[in-house]
Amino acid sequence: MPLDIVVGAQWGDEGKGRIVDLMAAEADFVARYSGGDNAGHTVTVGEQIYRLHLIPSGIVQPHTTAVLGNGMVINPVTLLDEIARLQQGGIEVTPQRLRISYAAHLITPAHRALDAAQEQARGPDQLGTTLRGIGPAYMSKVGRYGIRMGAMLDLETFADAIEMQVKICNRRLTRLYDAEPLDPHKVALEYAEYARQLAPFIGDVSVMLNQALQLEKRILAEGAQGTLLDLDHGTYPFVTSSHPTAPGAILGLGVGLGYVGRVIGVTKAFQTRVGEGPFPTELHGEIAERLRGTGDQPWDEYGTTTGRPRRVGWLDTVLLRYAVRANGLSEIALTKLDVLSGLPALKICTRYRAGDREFTELPLGPGDLSPFEPVYEELPGWDEDIRDIRSWNALPLEACQYIERVEDLAGVPITLISVGPERSQVIRV
Ligand code: IMP
Repeated sequence: MPLDIVVGAQWGDEGKGRIVDLMAAEADFVARYSGGDNAGHTVTVGEQIYRLHLIPSGIVQPHTTAVLGNGMVINPVTLLDEIARLQQGGIEVTPQRLRISYAAHLITPAHRALDAAQEQARGPDQLGTTLRGIGPAYMSKVGRYGIRMGAMLDLETFADAIEMQVKICNRRLTRLYDAEPLDPHKVALEYAEYARQLAPFIGDVSVMLNQALQLEKRILAEGAQGTLLDLDHGTYPFVTSSHPTAPGAILGLGVGLGYVGRVIGVTKAFQTRVGEGPFPTELHGEIAERLRGTGDQPWDEYGTTTGRPRRVGWLDTVLLRYAVRANGLSEIALTKLDVLSGLPALKICTRYRAGDREFTELPLGPGDLSPFEPVYEELPGWDEDIRDIRSWNALPLEACQYIERVEDLAGVPITLISVGPERSQVIRV
């Protein structure tokens, strides 16, 4: 089937960008279907590093058409900036190559102000959002006063719509949160200019993608964030406000279920998380610092969007099995295996314990993980630097044992292993 979906199997930042970049070599369309500029994807091609927040990473492959689907929320400032930066980096971004769904929703500065005000009002219970206005933009959508990208095609009514929405948000800002209101007229003027620039990119991507699918063109749906940040299936309330899981691709692009082929879950060889929320296998101290890196390299464990150091821990296969189920994963791509080199012993969480009971599946989903203690299995580590290895047979025996054990515990095959950030640093199994 011609629609493959790549999703994050953890809390985001699994290295989806590089897996997508690789798979996009064989795709005609690359499509983002949920979230907004809270995402951060890094693609390294030779000396060039591309950091993307909204545009699918697959755009780096010159033959692809990139799509922003109806499930997304779009900040036009970020989008225009990203288009300009890609063009400076030699990537062509024309209205033929980048198509934006008329039904995606707009993020305005009022949404960002609300995000900050809501977080502050939560006090010690903050979610640790990226402050990009994602939650409030989806609230506007669900509340049915959101503004869709298609509104940018009619400049006369667009400015009024923006003013109206900023006024609605202002009432929340001032009455609920005692925060400063925004100037609706100023925002409307600013957004009219963005509308002029973005109008040529906006259209009905569902029609375009369905026609392409009928012609057996290949579409790669590119998930942002990760399974455990899904609004319904994640560690609620420490989640994002969209559906990064694979079913989100169907809803967020307007394509049929029958076209789905591979569903690839990307997971690091260990576990990371940014922001607040439960993390049963979290580590502190020396091993944590080793896994996180120093921050000198773009692939070290610091947020691409916010620069925050990521929390790190051992791989949790209770949560990985959950991701297999929530997404219907057909396979797994394992990233950052090279980071484990040099650790004398590796732990994998195989089940949880609460009191005298053990669980291999979550009894009530991942919302409240506080009653559980991880139960680990220990495997031997390896010393060899594996970054230049390109075949399974050349991997140290201990690395093969680690991968095979993860595969066993997850219940689906591992078909790709990445051993470094470069496009070529991949082992196909
Ligand atoms: P929001 O999406 O900005 O509302 O943030 C909600 C939660 O999702 C926070 O814990 C963020 O750190 C997390 N989050 C959102 N986007 C990403 C991402 O792309 N990678 C990792 N975490 C993310």
